[in-house]
Amino acid sequence: MNILVVGGGGREHAICLALKSSPRVTKLYCAPGNGGISQIAECLPIMAVDVEGVTRFALENAIDYVVVASDDPLAAGMTDVLEDAGLRVFGPRRNAAEIESSKVFAKRLMKKYGIPTARYETFSLPEEAIAYIGRTGAPIVVKADGLALGKGAVVAETEDDARAAVRMMMEDMKFGDSGARVVIEEYMEGRELTILAFTDGKTVVPMLSSHDHKRVFDGDRGPNTGGMGAVCPSPRSSPELERLCMDTIFVPTVEALRAEGRVFKGVLYFELMLTPSGPKVIEYNARFGDPEAQAVLPLLETDLLDIMESVTDERLAEVDIRWKPGASCVVVMASGGYPVEYEKGKKIEGLDSLPPGIAVYHAGTKYKDGAFYTNGGRVLGVTATDITLGGAIENAYAGVRGIAWDGAHYRTDIGRI
Ligand code: AMP
Ligand code: GLY
Repeated sequence: MNILVVGGGGREHAICLALKSSPRVTKLYCAPGNGGISQIAECLPIMAVDVEGVTRFALENAIDYVVVASDDPLAAGMTDVLEDAGLRVFGPRRNAAEIESSKVFAKRLMKKYGIPTARYETFSLPEEAIAYIGRTGAPIVVKADGLALGKGAVVAETEDDARAAVRMMMEDMKFGDSGARVVIEEYMEGRELTILAFTDGKTVVPMLSSHDHKRVFDGDRGPNTGGMGAVCPSPRSSPELERLCMDTIFVPTVEALRAEGRVFKGVLYFELMLTPSGPKVIEYNARFGDPEAQAVLPLLETDLLDIMESVTDERLAEVDIRWKPGASCVVVMASGGYPVEYEKGKKIEGLDSLPPGIAVYHAGTKYKDGAFYTNGGRVLGVTATDITLGGAIENAYAGVRGIAWDGAHYRTDIGRI
């Protein structure tokens, strides 16, 4: 089969690598891909958000299956356009992907169907949002309604910080139209847990649990990023907890979407807060997490293409999804200054002399004349597996220590807190 993966980060590298091992894949393309992906797939000069460009390429090049892996094209309705052109696709249609692309929609859905989440109010006017903050006090959480590269949520410790976040989103329009509406919600106490699940709109199959580390610096300090590392399975989870989440969150969410006429087919990402009163949804995503995919997929034993096609064909219940024993850890290496300002084009050293058993997923790299150069904020996800989580963490850091470029930085406590 000819497969086209849409996206160009570490997650897409992990997806491409998993698909590559399927005996049914003959040719793999990625739009636009990156330096690392170019070593295992043909990268196309088509941006992930270019719905028309991707559709045209797929139709003209006998693509049998398109995997829309990243959030922006899903929010833009790429799946709808591809399916309407007669192509087979993995990834939800636009009306279902709205569970990620509009926090207002997601919060209303949870309220309507009794799915546990933080209490909230929605605002379209900054002065009303600011008056509300004065009534509730801090800590409180201010979120842009739309997509914002994982940076659209501000956990404000003080009322001043909360007001500043409202002004930044609604007046300075820091996230463009994504901040035209904001959700202000109750601060939830607890540890975070991620569970990704395959769903065909009827059956839900959770993957192994994971958790990522969003703050840029050790000890969970500094601003939020897209994610600085992840481990799988998460020691924060347990079979009892996962059964509870299945009954109170996973199944009710998929059923709620179906009841609303928005059948969700793809990967549904549940970001959970383990509060003293039980697990609650922080947010949903309509795709694999990044970097969670880089931690979870190396432990998947079943052919990823088989699973994806069963989702598309609504026969997920027939597939036996198996996992390898052990654990994995991914440590993200980022450009100096990320997530604020950073330079690109630094030569990356050490990639060809890594210890065995290390998989390096490229997030933001460029390949030129036999060498890799940095080309984004998050640059590499260095991943290792082992029979124990401690071993996986140790192995991943052994890999990290062998890689260098000017300004590279990474957290040293991934999976340890
Ligand atoms: P989000 O963009 O919704 O995933 O939020 C980003 C991060 O902000 C989450 O990973 C949490 O660490 C934090 N966060 C979001 N909502 C809340 C909340 N209601 N209470 C506490 N922390 C939150
Ligand atoms: N790791 C967070 C995300 O993929 O949104």
